[in-house]
Parts: sequence; structure tokens; C-alpha cells
Amino acid sequence: PKLAKLVTVDDFEAVARGNLTHSAYDYYRSGADEEHTLHRNRSAWTTYELWYRALVDVAQPDIRTTVLGTTLRSPISIAPTAYHTLAHPEGERATARAAADVGTLYVASTLATTTLEDVALAAPGAPRWFQLYVHTDRAFTARLVERAKAAGYSAIAFTADTPCLGRRCADVRNGFALPNGMEMANLVDIVPPDLREGAGSELARFMASRHDPSFSWKDFEALAKMCAPLPLVIKGIVRGDDARRALDHGAKAIWVSNHGGRQLDLAPATADALVDVVSAVGEQADVYVDGGIRSGTHALVALGLGATAVFVGRPVLWGLAAGGHAGVTRVLELLDEELVRAMRLAGCPDLASARDGLVRHRSR
Ligand code: FNR
Repeated sequence: PKLAKLVTVDDFEAVARGNLTHSAYDYYRSGADEEHTLHRNRSAWTTYELWYRALVDVAQPDIRTTVLGTTLRSPISIAPTAYHTLAHPEGERATARAAADVGTLYVASTLATTTLEDVALAAPGAPRWFQLYVHTDRAFTARLVERAKAAGYSAIAFTADTPCLGRRCADVRNGFALPNGMEMANLVDIVPPDLREGAGSELARFMASRHDPSFSWKDFEALAKMCAPLPLVIKGIVRGDDARRALDHGAKAIWVSNHGGRQLDLAPATADALVDVVSAVGEQADVYVDGGIRSGTHALVALGLGATAVFVGRPVLWGLAAGGHAGVTRVLELLDEELVRAMRLAGCPDLASARDGLVRHRSR
């Protein structure tokens, strides 16, 4: 179907599902274990109400935001997700070009199927961050950081919710593995030669063999020094006390996330965690959020609760599988259009005005 006929992110998911193999769709869609957190992430946004104001001049809602000194045309950015060539042959390159089209930020994953240098070359002028997993081989981790600096990435987002991989049951059942011809392009030097052998999820085996579950706050502080002059963002925080600790140990911004419900099942929905983290951090640092954001209205709730920017993971993959570069661009445009419409209806000329008593929890 024509992209223009797709009216919601869910419409894109339906088309994507038809274009993807069964196991690729399962990999993208799944959450951990019983998937409570996966589902709560989305439904939690709808437990808030938007107490709109009447008769405000909303002829030109301004959705620009500034993250770590970079002004973005849209506050709805692209969360790091692995394996984009599973969705479309152009993979991460297409995603990077789409982010540049709409003027938002692309956070490239350590687990990309395109090298971080090639992602940068695909959209040279666009803002981009690199998402980092810490490997047991610390020298290799340091090399990844140096490569990101050399390729013009402007921040490192360290993922703190993955000391081991959460169990995604469908991937275990499917024996999910990257098809021949695709690889973890940033990591070819450290992929074990026998990775293909074994039962269950290949990614879970890789993480178990190469990721460092002993990584703790003192290591984080050393990582922040290693990343300098690039700012280090910590992704995967749900607690206010952890957010404060992260700032004390050198983080420059806090990214509230539970990895799209793919790590610890029964972790809190990110909408609820956002409230705790914003009240702990105050004006001291940017707070970002992702998880279950499927419409501009959800994004407006997040921005109204104090997020500086929001990120989407799966919606981008659905756009990529539905229509490559044009599909991702259209998903991001759709979300921006929904955000602008919601701001008009809510009486918000800009994002600051959304933080002024617009959002209230239903039970309050
Ligand atoms: C992810 N996520 C993720 N996060 C990360 O830090 N590094 C990664 O490589 C990946 N890979 C990944 C793959 C897939 C298929 C998904 C769905 C997610 C988590 C991602 O950055 C983000 O936190 C969530 O996707 C946000 O939730 P929604 O928008 O997908 O609901």
C-alpha cells in the first residue's frame, strides 16, 4: 500500500509485519518473559489527561527542542535499535537519512548491521549519537569510543539496563540468529567464531560471552572520562536515586528507559519512572524518555511531564520495513504532525507551555 494511506504507527506495523520474516518480526516486537512491561509502557501514557487551554494563539506551534546544546527541529528522535538490514537492505543508512530529512537525532546502536563510520557517511551533516554497550574487552570498548569521536558523533549513550540480555521467549523458540550476509558490523573483531552453534537466541549467546555484568558506578566514572570531550548520556534508568548517582558519576543527561520492555519484566512503565526521575533531577540535567510512544499525543504527555526529548524504537523499524528511507521519514513526519495537532488542540504554542500544568494523572 501507499505510505500516504497509513494513518497511524499501528498501520505501519501491520504493513511491516507482512514484509518481515516471522522471526524478524518476533525479534522486533517482543518484550521479555510475559511482556507485562512491554504492554504497560504503552498503556501508561494513556493514564494521563491533557487539561487543554482554550483560546491560545496556536497558529504556529514550535516543536523545536535543544539536547546537549544541539537544537533539533523535532523532539521525537530515533532510539538505538539493532539489526536494521533485517528490515530493509539499506538498513541503518536509510534510517540515518530519514532522521536528517526531518531534522531529528539518530542514535546508532553498537549492534548495528552497518559500521558506525558508514552510518555517519550516509547523512554527514545530521546530528547523531552512538549507543555503547561495554564489552569485557575494555580496550575494544575504548576503540569503539575513539571511532565514534573520529566519525563525528556528538555524544555517547551508554545502555545501563543490559548486564545480561533479557529473555525474549519468541527468539529462544525461533532460535533467532542474524541471516547469512548480515553481521554485527561494529563488532566483527570480537564475535566468537562458534557463535552460530548452539540453541536459542544467538544474541543472548553473544551477550553472555562478550558483555561485562560486573560493570558498576566506578567503571561508569572511568567511562565518562574516556568519552570526554563527548558528553556521556546514561540510558536505561528508572529510579530517581540512580539518576542522581549517574549525575554524580559524570553523566550529562538521563535517559529514562526499560529497553522497550525487553529486559526486566515488571520494570515500571517509563511514563511513571519519568515522573520520579524528573522530580529527582529537576533542572540540573536533560531527561529523555522512550518506551511505548506510538503517537504525538503520547509524546506530548512525556514532554509535558518534563522530558526534553522523546525517542521511539519500534515505530522506526516498522517504517523501515514498510518503505525503507521513505517509510522511516513518513513515520517520523506522522508523529510530528500528530504532536503539532495535539499542541494546537491543547493550547500549547511551544513545548515549555506543555510543562505548565497541562498533564495530570487520572487518579489525582
Ligand atoms: C532495542 N533497544 C536497544 N537499546 C539499546 O540501547 N541498544 C540496542 O542495540 C537496542 N536494540 C533494540 C532492538 C530492538 C528490536 C528494539 C525494539 C529495541 C531499545 C531501544 O533503544 C528503546 O529503548 C526501545 O525500543 C523504546 O521502546 P519502543 O519505542 O520500542 O516501545
